[in-house]
Amino acid sequence: MTSTAPNALRNREAAADRVSESARLDSRWADLERLRSSHPMMDAVIEEQQGRRIRIGDHWLSDFASCNYLGFDLHPEIIAASERAVRRWGTHPSWSRLLGNPRPYLEIEEQLTELVGAPDTLVLPTITLVHTSVIPVLAGQGAVLVDAQAHKTIYDGATIARGGGASLHRVRANDPGHLEETLRSLPAEISKVFCIDGVNSMTGNAPDLPEYARICREHDALLYVDDAHGFGIIGESPTSGHPYGRRGNSIVKYFGESYDNIVLVAGFSKAYSSLAAFLALPTSLKNYLKVAAPPYLYSGPSPTGSLATILAGFKVNAAEGDQIRLSLADKTRRVLDQISRLGLRTLNTSGYPVIEIPLSHADDIDAVGRFLFERGIYVTLAAYPLVPKSEVGFRVQVTALNSDSEIEQLNQVLSELSERFDLQHASQPA
Ligand SMILES: Cc1ncc(COP(=O)(O)O)c(C=O)c1O
Repeated sequence: MTSTAPNALRNREAAADRVSESARLDSRWADLERLRSSHPMMDAVIEEQQGRRIRIGDHWLSDFASCNYLGFDLHPEIIAASERAVRRWGTHPSWSRLLGNPRPYLEIEEQLTELVGAPDTLVLPTITLVHTSVIPVLAGQGAVLVDAQAHKTIYDGATIARGGGASLHRVRANDPGHLEETLRSLPAEISKVFCIDGVNSMTGNAPDLPEYARICREHDALLYVDDAHGFGIIGESPTSGHPYGRRGNSIVKYFGESYDNIVLVAGFSKAYSSLAAFLALPTSLKNYLKVAAPPYLYSGPSPTGSLATILAGFKVNAAEGDQIRLSLADKTRRVLDQISRLGLRTLNTSGYPVIEIPLSHADDIDAVGRFLFERGIYVTLAAYPLVPKSEVGFRVQVTALNSDSEIEQLNQVLSELSERFDLQHASQPA
């Protein structure tokens, strides 16, 4: 080692310190950074898991922060399929998809296309990669319109599109009229894409898809929907007996819509407990994205075990999915009923298993989180700027594997919490 090496190392460390110092000074992130560095429910190390019980340090908690809604992460057939596939194909395909597709990719796309009832589907590694690579391709030099409550990764994709020459427009949430107004203000001849969440990751509610689809079709715009939290949960033919619908084939089928002018994006990393994402789209667009969307050409593929767990997940979904969804809807209903009995406000008006409970005072988030942690309940803290200050609180996610006694424990702790802290009330204006 030369004598300059320690100096070079010191310089690099000093540069890294300056970067983290300037991040600290960006006050937008200050609340989140404070929680991240000090709160037991952020950046936590999970030492052990038994069902939906997790151990952090020596503290066991009931996990209500999991996105494994259907419990496929612990399903014996799905676990076994992963091992078989790894023995057959090795741990990782390694080729980018343009170079080589192990057969399971084709089987997934074939079965998925049938499940979601779309013209075709394309599997890529993650939704984040889909948004950041596909939104710019779809927008080109035209316009990208983004719903105000859309997921951060959609905004990232839209920002990249803007860097490539598209104009960027924010559309007020739950306001189809504002979408129509914005589309009318744009030149007819340019390409237009409107991006929105399906089942929203914070409110747990679905948008009025038929109305948004109607407006987009009328203005020759593409409706680009990210249903990360709806795929596997909601699906075709909802009734009062099957409130989530059947087959878990996502928001377009839930509303009985066609795929005209709609590109659906969803992933397997939530309800399917795997690692891959997909687009439902026309075959011509799929073929174009195979050469124009960087992840198909350049990114590493999903691990073999993930491909196998998706295929096994389809089988379990066909055999047991509707029963699992009924049980999930019932467990979610019990939590929502308790929230309603306590007179508390939640953003969730849908009955889907994503339940955010806002606080009256955003500054209470630290203490509320510590109380929940001490009482053995693990949730997602919804801190600013992840949500607007008026919606700072915590998000409970119910999964089919949360036991009845865990649901009772959660309901009991919510009751104690409402006595100690100032939570927003149902009658309170948002
Ligand atoms: C609505 C939504 N979109 C995208 C993502 C990111 O998905 P992925 O992990 O597949 O990149 C998430 C993950 O939390 C999400 O909730």
